[in-house]
Amino acid sequence: MSFRTTADYVEDVSPGSGALPARAWYASSDAKALSLNGSWRFRLSATVDAEDDSFAEEGYDAGGWAEVTVPGHWVLQGDGAFGSPIYTNHLYPFPVDPPHVPTENPTGDHLRVFDLPADWPADGGAVLRFDGVESCARLWLNGTELGEFKGSRLAHEFAVGHLLKPGGNVLAVRVHQWSAGSYLEDQDQWWLPGIFRDVTLLHRPAGSVGDFFVHASYDHTTGEGTLRVDSDAEGRVTVPGLDIDVATGESVTVAVEPWTAETPKLYDGVLATEGERVPLRIGFRTVALEDGLIKVNGKAVLFKGVNRHEWHPEKGRALDLETMREDVLLMKRHNLNAVRTSHYPPHPAFLDLCDEYGLWVIDECDLETHGFTEQDWRDNPVDDDRWTPALLDRAERMVERDKNHPSVVFWSLGNEAGTGRGLTAMAEWIHGRDPERLVHYEGDWNCRDTDVYSRMYAFHDEVEKIGQQLDGGTRGRRALPFIQCEYGHAMGNGPGGLADYQELFEKYERLQGGFIWEWIDHGVKHAELGYAYGGDFGEELHDGNFVCDGLVFPDRTPSPGLIEYKKVIEPVHIEGDGANGIVRITNKQDFADLSALAFEWSCQVDGETVESGSLAVPALAPGESAEVKLPEPPVDGRGGERQWTVRALLADDTVWAPKDHVVAWGQFAAGARPLPSFPASDRPAAATDRITLGPAEFDPRTGALRSIGGVAVGAAPRLDVWRAPTDNDDGAEWQTDTRYGMLWRTLGLHRMRHRLVSVEAGDDALTVRTRVAPAAREVGLDTVYRWTSDGERLRLTVSVTPEGDWTVPLPRLGVRFGLPEADRVEWFGGGPGEAYPDTSTASMVGRWQSTVDGLQTPYVRPQENGARADVRWVELGGLRIEGDPEFWFTARRWTTEQLEAARHRTDLTAGDTVWVNLDHGQHGIGSQSCGPGPLPQYFLKAEPAEFSFVFSTTG
Ligand code: GAL
Repeated sequence: MSFRTTADYVEDVSPGSGALPARAWYASSDAKALSLNGSWRFRLSATVDAEDDSFAEEGYDAGGWAEVTVPGHWVLQGDGAFGSPIYTNHLYPFPVDPPHVPTENPTGDHLRVFDLPADWPADGGAVLRFDGVESCARLWLNGTELGEFKGSRLAHEFAVGHLLKPGGNVLAVRVHQWSAGSYLEDQDQWWLPGIFRDVTLLHRPAGSVGDFFVHASYDHTTGEGTLRVDSDAEGRVTVPGLDIDVATGESVTVAVEPWTAETPKLYDGVLATEGERVPLRIGFRTVALEDGLIKVNGKAVLFKGVNRHEWHPEKGRALDLETMREDVLLMKRHNLNAVRTSHYPPHPAFLDLCDEYGLWVIDECDLETHGFTEQDWRDNPVDDDRWTPALLDRAERMVERDKNHPSVVFWSLGNEAGTGRGLTAMAEWIHGRDPERLVHYEGDWNCRDTDVYSRMYAFHDEVEKIGQQLDGGTRGRRALPFIQCEYGHAMGNGPGGLADYQELFEKYERLQGGFIWEWIDHGVKHAELGYAYGGDFGEELHDGNFVCDGLVFPDRTPSPGLIEYKKVIEPVHIEGDGANGIVRITNKQDFADLSALAFEWSCQVDGETVESGSLAVPALAPGESAEVKLPEPPVDGRGGERQWTVRALLADDTVWAPKDHVVAWGQFAAGARPLPSFPASDRPAAATDRITLGPAEFDPRTGALRSIGGVAVGAAPRLDVWRAPTDNDDGAEWQTDTRYGMLWRTLGLHRMRHRLVSVEAGDDALTVRTRVAPAAREVGLDTVYRWTSDGERLRLTVSVTPEGDWTVPLPRLGVRFGLPEADRVEWFGGGPGEAYPDTSTASMVGRWQSTVDGLQTPYVRPQENGARADVRWVELGGLRIEGDPEFWFTARRWTTEQLEAARHRTDLTAGDTVWVNLDHGQHGIGSQSCGPGPLPQYFLKAEPAEFSFVFSTTG
């Protein structure tokens, strides 16, 4: 028996040795398989060879070792005893000295002893399959070395039949956190070593399938599909639903229903060879680049996608099937139709789900060398021939593993790896091996190797130019369609501006949609912090909460960003002409008609539904529109604000959502809102210790409101322009001139001073004049509060006049006050969730209820959140507040300053005051934590403004 005595392989640029050629990933119907997942013996050492490899020998006693669960990452197990996660965006957490890695290289020895099940066949071979190990592994079975490999998120198989015994097999795996492979895996995510995907022993009977390639195309002109299954082992292919029974390698053409993400028709089939039967799930579809467009089955598609990293707050990238299914169901329920598997091939079961439920997939290779950007891409492995075999190995392992999934329409070479010959070699190999799919890569704007012009975070104006074909570029690029493989950076509150992007995508044919960055916040569940992010484990280099930028929170609760996206990408557009009682319905899908949907109208008076019914809408074909007459509006004497709501619901249960699930909706006014007004009939009465006006009492010296009708006001309303900057307000560090979070602080908007000018108790009003301004600056806001009453109600009119040269927009403009007690909240306005000027598409006008705690949006890093838009009135803490005009409403149990200072949600504790903000304006949100800031139309400019609130008690 001979063991390698050195650990040279760790820093070897080659992909490894000993593994079998890559092949399709499948589960056999009849060949036995044994899962080796579970508890393994585990020993951690600080360097690659601190311990010798005698542990791989039979008879070794690992009784004193710890245990870890496989699949899993050791740094997320053992309560910190096995090291901790590290988060960096693009910086390598080790010196850039390719292919060398630090001597301190956490190395986990894993040991598992297993018996073969009694019915394990004695004949045939066996392979051991590893679906994912980060980042480099060397392995032995029963003391015999099998080889070593890199390529963390790719499958590796080893022939082991000759080594197996009925009982007491010893499988030893040595895993190194860092290797030459780490240079190719610099994705923006946690560095998490371990055997994090399944380990399986597969029996390989004589005459078993080996590798096979399902070619199933669809001819939209004839309605026929052509099937050919190429297989290493000869056999027959049967598809009972299509009466197909052909030899492998033989083509057959029959009438079929095609597969699309909207209509994911799969035909069950079987590939039977002498030794094995393999279940097939065949989707017929043809992907092509035609007329400068990405077409499937002859039609251009519009991607409404998201970038999905694999993430679980406790298990890291070790996802179980139910978690994967939860992702797919959430995507389908929120109208998404596409996923980019950023930035590596996912667990193969995820692709099965995409086939089954219907999602277009860009399958991305496990490749990113972003850290080389720090040295102007010098020594970039993708432009260094020594690394090309490793790159080709990764491309092959992705394509061969995943080639039988109809959902995969694009192969992506990787992410942020610059440009170079290695990438070209990958693209050439992929194009040759699978000409039936397209190739994607964002990093080369000249599109030398790709079939699509892809960009990330391009601003709206540039996207529009690209749509208009006015962006120039190489000849090759000009002929290509465009997608944004990343946009709408969903970090913290936001992303804003999605509706504006969608409008462009729908307007210009060349723009074929995009993929939001990203699906889930990678928060790590943490006993004290709730969810940890970069820096929380004491990393010497880290990128903070840049790792929490998803449409769902770490526990997969949808964030407002996902709710907004769902509305923006609705497959049906519903717009109405309330005055004439007409609704216009447009089918925005690419393939399906509207027969799966039922429509419902309802009519609201002051947000309360007074009548509803079903609406007959024709089963419009994709792209078609129809105008449908609404019923006569119900007679209602109340004379309140009237509106129509029309919803599109699932007509029947589907595999991804039940009947009545709301897919799309539209709302339109049927009459104007009566504004709250009353004559200022009461006059202020001044005494030495108070001024009274109607139900209210004021401090005579300051003019500050003390109470309304017995409801004490702990902190009187006064002008407030500050919000706890969002990640998007703060912006990314490379965006220097438009980072308003920073500019606002520089100006001092977080420390405004209020100078009282006068308190005037006049005939019909109490007028309080002030000037609100930051120390050290000459700019200010001349602010007048005018209080009037009809004896019962109290009206506050705030007039704001900016003084000086305001060069920045305001974060918010409104009043803030404190109530000693408030819990339940009811309002008529936008809801149920938060909204800001450029994130308000999904805000539905109605009557909503919540609690103060329920109004908070749990962003992992606390920041401005929870505003409700278009509020007509709100009731809380014994008060009713009506707006003229509508306003933004926020309430929380801590101050803006406390919110701003908090790093984690656990830093926020309820005080004895509920702080209420009533805002006339909010600055837009944008997506500047990586992309563009708010568009100009969402700026809250410092300009003269006047707005009113009417207070009364609810008691
Ligand atoms: C992109 C990158 C992603 C992620 C994102 C910002 O540049 O491809 O992996 O880092 O920016 O969150």
